Amino acid sequence: MNKKDLNRRQFLSAASAATLAAAASKAIPAYGNVSKKADKPAILGGKPVRTKPWPPWPVWDKSAEESVLSILRSGNWFRGRGSTVSKFEEQYAALMGAKRCVCTVNGTNALLTALHVLDIGVGDEVIVSPYTFIATYNVVFGSCALPVFADTDPETFQINPDKIEERITENTRAILPVHILGLPADMDRINAIAKKHNLVVIEDACQAWMAEWRGKKCGSVGDLGCFSFQNSKHLPCGEGGAVIGNDDQIMDRCYSYHNCGRAFGSVKATSGYPIMGTNRRMTEYQAAILLSQIKRLEKDTQRRNENADYLTSKIKDIPGILPAKFYDGVTRAAYHLYPFRYKKERFNNLSRDKFLSALRAEGVPCSSGYGPQYRDGLVEAVLNSKNFKRSFTKERLDKYRKEIHYPDNDQLCKEAVWFTQNLLLGTKGDMDDIANAILKIYENRDKLS
Ligand SMILES: Cc1ncc(COP(=O)(O)O)c(C=O)c1O
Repeated sequence: MNKKDLNRRQFLSAASAATLAAAASKAIPAYGNVSKKADKPAILGGKPVRTKPWPPWPVWDKSAEESVLSILRSGNWFRGRGSTVSKFEEQYAALMGAKRCVCTVNGTNALLTALHVLDIGVGDEVIVSPYTFIATYNVVFGSCALPVFADTDPETFQINPDKIEERITENTRAILPVHILGLPADMDRINAIAKKHNLVVIEDACQAWMAEWRGKKCGSVGDLGCFSFQNSKHLPCGEGGAVIGNDDQIMDRCYSYHNCGRAFGSVKATSGYPIMGTNRRMTEYQAAILLSQIKRLEKDTQRRNENADYLTSKIKDIPGILPAKFYDGVTRAAYHLYPFRYKKERFNNLSRDKFLSALRAEGVPCSSGYGPQYRDGLVEAVLNSKNFKRSFTKERLDKYRKEIHYPDNDQLCKEAVWFTQNLLLGTKGDMDDIANAILKIYENRDKLS
């Protein structure tokens, strides 16, 4: 029998049989935990599973303090008068297995830069996942192009590769897969579709530092990869971003464009400015923070993966709890968030909101994640803007409106539960607390709903 089909009594007896068997063998029990049924839920006045704080984020050390101070004292804060940004770019490109890296002010502007240098703009369409941080929508709209959504694969939380080809039209220029939550999208399928239809692939790896697809770092598998180094990120410096790639001419354009259009490498000028540019330069002190943060990235990634795998092993058999699955090509995840789907039917119809409140009361911070943002005001605001009305026919914009229908993503938005990455930097005991809190809610679901 499938464990997910156990009724409550069968589940509890299976759980306690597993606990007993494990206690006898000193192995980790299949359900990981003793029964929490007797404990009153904290939201109903019981004792919370956890009261200790969770690991803080970000974490910094003395070496960062010294290097930031020395840049401050030098007065050379801009990259044109120092070498810290260039040094970080070299290190990050090497770590990502890419030939080149250009740092930017943030991930949004890394994506805008990538779209610009690949000549994606007015009238174009870009295939995007609807399940993403809003910046992925914004950068396509901001380039006066249409983000055309391919529905989500609810099991993996990623863009569904089976839904991409049906969205390609004569105006499609690019696929912009997002390795959302730090879990890799199916890059074999995406690259094959892109090749077949002569499209470029820009990876939004803004949550996926060190994640891997078949041993290659996410961000280095498509044409260009974009990263964010914002405060909450695994490689943080407050605000920051980067574009990585292997094509020297394209990367020269990235550099030149982000530096006001000044000549750089193959972007040559006899005088002045050979191309139109903008200013998206990172500062020296941002890069100094990144150079210190990069030292902990591998170790932290290992820990997040170990703890995430352990947590999955503890909660995957609780009925109604469905942790994210991986595609075959995933060799490593980054786990910017730890996600699972919550099936309220298995919790006596306890709503997700009430489940989240109960979990928070047990001392486990959690959230519901992204909503169906394509129905938020921003899409209509953009379609009604002067730029879009001048750049697209009314028929195209009306067709776009009509196609806003992503049932799998809608469902995922109703079921997702997330934990932030810092929770995964703790101990196995911390993961037990999370699993115990979920089990406690499961066992008390009749009282809570
Ligand atoms: C998936 C995704 N794309 C793009 C961005 C934009 O990055 P930033 O906030 O650095 O501009 C983020 C940031 O959270 C993100 O999570």
